[in-house]
Amino acid sequence: MIVINKGIPIIKRDDLIFAIKLIRKMRNPKTRFDEREFVKHGRDYLFNYAEKNVGPLDPSRRAFLKGILIGIGAAAVLSAIPVISYLNQPQITLKSFPWIIIVDSNGNPIKASEVPVNSPEILLFQYPMEGDITFLLNLGDENNNPIEVPPTTVVIPENGKTYTFPGGVGPHKSIVAYSAICQHLGCTPPEIHFYPPQYMKAGMPTPNYLPPIALQAAQQANAISVIHCDCHGSTYDPLHGAAVLTGPTVRPLPYVQLYWDPNTDYLYAIGMNLKAPPILGHTSDLSGYAYLSSYNEETGCPKMLLKAGQTPSDCYTKLENNGNTFE
Ligand code: FES
Repeated sequence: MIVINKGIPIIKRDDLIFAIKLIRKMRNPKTRFDEREFVKHGRDYLFNYAEKNVGPLDPSRRAFLKGILIGIGAAAVLSAIPVISYLNQPQITLKSFPWIIIVDSNGNPIKASEVPVNSPEILLFQYPMEGDITFLLNLGDENNNPIEVPPTTVVIPENGKTYTFPGGVGPHKSIVAYSAICQHLGCTPPEIHFYPPQYMKAGMPTPNYLPPIALQAAQQANAISVIHCDCHGSTYDPLHGAAVLTGPTVRPLPYVQLYWDPNTDYLYAIGMNLKAPPILGHTSDLSGYAYLSSYNEETGCPKMLLKAGQTPSDCYTKLENNGNTFE
């Protein structure tokens, strides 16, 4: 079930785990999801498939699956993990990064001042393509006051190269967005999740338990909060460009460049840094498997942006230097 909190959908942990299991079954050649049958029979086929391969569906789980289907059809950007449209797609490449407005699952733009500070809830949107799930975080201190996220230089431990992270946006410059796909082996929420300052203590109960090595690395780096992956223990520092605090990952989480419009308080995702490591599994952040469901190939604009009165020329960052505007 998708819970709406102040207009922002929050996905329950159980539903996420269910969705992840479902995706794994769908991708497994032995239990492959038959898209032709899905086209023929619609959601009944999906429900039967999920019951057979993952487990019984109570009414709330059915509503969650229905929500995913609606999200795909209705161009929601901030939505559940994409399931259907991510399957069996040949790789496609974007000419440049789309400029999208970040909306909730009802299609309403999210206001920067309404993004909860330090929320351990999972707030996700997809960028630059379907399936590229991304954390939206509003960072704060231990009293939940938003804190300015400064620009910083991020080191890639894998090769020693560096790139610039431009810092936070919004009224307090505290809002950032990072890929929610772990750079080690690709675990996704809820396995990888955000630990705000109040969870940065020894002995917290699961799911907020941080191993001592992660706590120690965070203290040494003056990280006030972390993103930690329970799969194998990788830890990232969201205040400093999602730099690596503990392995086994050797690559930081790539960031999505945000733009905040102070007149409307709306947030836009406008690009990624091609000098940063690409999203795990991609050869480049401009390549992926499916356009965002909101993407209109004719105009090159997300449909929802046109609805909001924008023109197609506003839809893209002005790309220079071989498609990369960022350092
Ligand atoms: S997939 Fe995240 S630590 Fe291995």
